[in-house]
Order: sequence, then structure tokens, then C-alpha cells
Amino acid sequence: MTGEPRSMQRRTIRSPPSSAEGQCVRIDSLLEDDEQRSLARDALEGLRRPRKQMPSKHFYDSRGSALFDQICELPEYYPTRAEREILSTHAVEIAKLTHAAELVELGAGTAAKTRALLRALDDQGALRRYVPIDVTSAVVEDCAVALSSEFPRLTVHGVICDFERHLRHLPASGSKPRLLALLGGTIGNFTPAGRVRLLREISAMLAPGDHLLLGTDLVKDPCVLEAAYNDSAGVTAEFNRNLLHVMNSALDGNFDPASFDHVAVFDEQEEWIEMRLRSKRKQTVSLGALELSVHFEEGEEMRTEISAKFTRRRVESELESAGLAIVRWFTDGEGMFALTLARPAT
Ligand code: AVJ
Repeated sequence: MTGEPRSMQRRTIRSPPSSAEGQCVRIDSLLEDDEQRSLARDALEGLRRPRKQMPSKHFYDSRGSALFDQICELPEYYPTRAEREILSTHAVEIAKLTHAAELVELGAGTAAKTRALLRALDDQGALRRYVPIDVTSAVVEDCAVALSSEFPRLTVHGVICDFERHLRHLPASGSKPRLLALLGGTIGNFTPAGRVRLLREISAMLAPGDHLLLGTDLVKDPCVLEAAYNDSAGVTAEFNRNLLHVMNSALDGNFDPASFDHVAVFDEQEEWIEMRLRSKRKQTVSLGALELSVHFEEGEEMRTEISAKFTRRRVESELESAGLAIVRWFTDGEGMFALTLARPAT
């Protein structure tokens, strides 16, 4: 045992076999039962408030990740397609502008959209290492293994962690320059204060010559936004209720997911989509692991996610307050979504 706090311990799940030819995968985990404690802490904090809330990162167990992948294919959910369009149109330009030798991707998921970028960076010849980072271990493992066989020249170093808490403990930059990607609009799941905190931590990971590639969904007609979070097939509703399944299994809870309605509304003041679960009836739920009883009135709502929508001006000012400057602003043909390439402002 070292004297490090638990969250700093690194557990290697998979290291490269010494004789491997073109198969260089390493996966570390910074989580462990630590993750369960983060859920416990968030539940104790969020469910005892007068206005109940839970952070959206707890959606993503393997069922939640699979549901999210289904969301990305929905006709109403445009962000994934729009971002993929931007990436496939501009990947070569991004490769030329960054000359990245290392791509670090926060919240990589299955890295479906990242492939176009990896392809362009690999073709350019500078790319040596890909570091996919995600909270869901199965997702990181599958992605790392698949990508290392697709890109045999690449070293893939997957890291399972919560990038909100563990960014400081990530592996040091292997090859320079580095491109750090935060795609999919994930930054929108943070409050404005949380975003600046995260962007400052990201900024601290970048040296001169390094870049950040940031995906942000854009402010638009509320009907289009609300449809994207209220799909007719009900997949988003199931994704939302998955939080209850996660709490049931990890915290010995007895939530009845069928007794909660899915709600998603655009808050025009805050410029974010808010997802909530609304109790259909008056009920008391218990979380055995926390010895906690949670009472819901009929119609009472619990906030489960915010998904902020941006303007160029907002992206620019938030980057600026983290010491970053815009190099290029890319959008899809319909102006639905933006990718911003930024660098440390000197
Ligand atoms: C993965 C966080 C970008 O906010 O749009 C999709 C998650 N929530 N549908 C988003 C999500 C509901 C998604 N992000």
C-alpha cells in the first residue's frame, strides 16, 4: 500500500504482450469501488435536496452506454450525425493544423466518430499514440482493442476514469504535440462553473503546440432541441430511467422505473436542455446501501441531466477564461453543431 488516496491508484487491466507485433494496447483504471462511492456521495447529496438532482455521468453503465449508442442513431438526435459530418469534412485540415502525435479523447465511448480523425492523423504520419478515456470499463476495453487492430502503428493506452475527478492523474504526454478531444457535446453536461473548472484543467494539460478539439451543440429552435431529447421511439426515456436501474443495483435500491415519467425541456434562460424524472405517484423509495429513504410527491421531479447549448460567443468566452484561444470554428452544413479547435493563448 502506498500513501496515495485511492483515486490515484492505477490498476493495469491489460498491458502489451512483450512479443506483440503491431498490437500495443494498455489499459489502466483509476476507478475501482471508488466509483460506487462517488454514486453514493452524489445520491446522498442530490436526493436530500428540496429539488432533487443527480449528475448525468451515472447513466453510463454498460446498459446505459448501449442505450446512448441507440440514441445516436435516432432520427431526432442530430448531434452525432452533425459532428460526424464536421469531422469527416475537416479531419484532414485538423490533422494539418495540429500535427498531433498523440490524441487524448475524454469520454471516448466507442470512438465511433473519432475514426475519421484518427485516420487523417495516421495518414499524415505523425500519430503515435491514442489515449481513449471513459468511465465505462467495457467500453474502453472494446474500443482500445478494436482500434489497435485497425491502426497497427498506433499505441493505444486506454484509461478508465472519471475525467471530472481524475484528470490530474492521467498518463503524462507520450509524444508531442498532443491533441485533446472532448467531443459529442459532453462539455454541455457541466454547469457553467463546472465547465470553466474542467476547461482550466484541460488547459493545464496543454503545452504550446498542443490543441483542444471541443464539440458543442448549438442553440437553435427549441422544438428541434426538445425533439432530440424526446424521441418517438422512447429510447431517451429508457436512457433517463436507466439512472434508477443503476441506483437499484449499485445502492441496493427499490426504485420502480415504471413509476417515473421522462421529461426533457429547453430552459431558454440557461440555454440548456434539462432532463428530469417525474414521479407518477406519491411514493417512498429506499436505498439500502445508504440507509436512506427518499420521498417523492406525485408529480415531483428529479433533475438527471443538463445539456447546454452554445453560441460561438459563449464558447469563445469560456475558452478564454480557461486561457485558450480559438484557432478554427467548424460547423456542419445546417449549423446545428460546432467543433472548435483551440490552443493555449500565449
Ligand atoms: C453524450 C452528453 C452529449 O447531452 O446530448 C443524449 C447525452 N442525453 N440524450 C447529450 C444525452 C440524452 C448527450 N451527451
